[in-house]
Amino acid sequence: MESVLTSEYRRLSRDPATQQPLAYLRLRQAIRNVIDQRGIEPGQALPSERDLSQALGLSRVTVRKAIGGLVEEGLLTQRHGAGTFVAERIVKPMSRLTSFTEDLRARGLNPRSEFFERGIGEVTPEEAMAMNLSPGAPVVRLHRVRYAGDEPLAIERSVVPASALPDPALVHDSLYEALEQRGCRPRRALQRLRAVLLTAQHARLLHVAVGSAGLAIERRSFLDDGRIVEFTSSWYRGDIYDFVAELQTD
Ligand code: GLP
Repeated sequence: MESVLTSEYRRLSRDPATQQPLAYLRLRQAIRNVIDQRGIEPGQALPSERDLSQALGLSRVTVRKAIGGLVEEGLLTQRHGAGTFVAERIVKPMSRLTSFTEDLRARGLNPRSEFFERGIGEVTPEEAMAMNLSPGAPVVRLHRVRYAGDEPLAIERSVVPASALPDPALVHDSLYEALEQRGCRPRRALQRLRAVLLTAQHARLLHVAVGSAGLAIERRSFLDDGRIVEFTSSWYRGDIYDFVAELQTD
């Protein structure tokens, strides 16, 4: 029987709209589509490299290249000797400056936010220090619980200089989308992660037990000219998120 994956690959190969001449990119897209459509569920294994290359008439190198890219993105995970699986936890590569909305969409999940605050005010002395702003500068403040469908994943408090985002109502689902529309999408960020035990208030919002493990993350993002465009404190559920960093020798 043909697997969902091989039939999706063949469909993309026939579809002139795909316009993807490179086999490994086509296969990567096919895998992504099948995961999006839940043809292979989180935690389930992909067919082996050998089976895929035989079924599709592709070289092992091509199949490995297609899969490797998705492992790097965190959509797939590999267990030594056991094979390749659709990632169950949300695996977030730390080297890419992406938004919550982009991360979730890339995994076929439905990002949404509940706002507790979406307003404008004066920068506090601590924020002014952290963001290099003059005392009293106007800033937009967002306080959101971030969900995948109905499941809360993180709480985020963001501060953005009004010079980059003059009106908080410009943020609907995604802060980065709103910044992008203003030509102020961050280009670089410094991020600090810390293990925490979630307080009663955070645990309630995240639907987990008080004292569950969490990750506190602070992100300061910069524009090309060095101005800070975001200062965000987040609390992520520790039972769902894996942050992965690629390390290289010099
Ligand atoms: C992540 C980061 C935040 C950033 C957010 C933007 O969650 N930790 O620092 O503000 O992404 O996401 P979005 O554009 O979906 O609002």
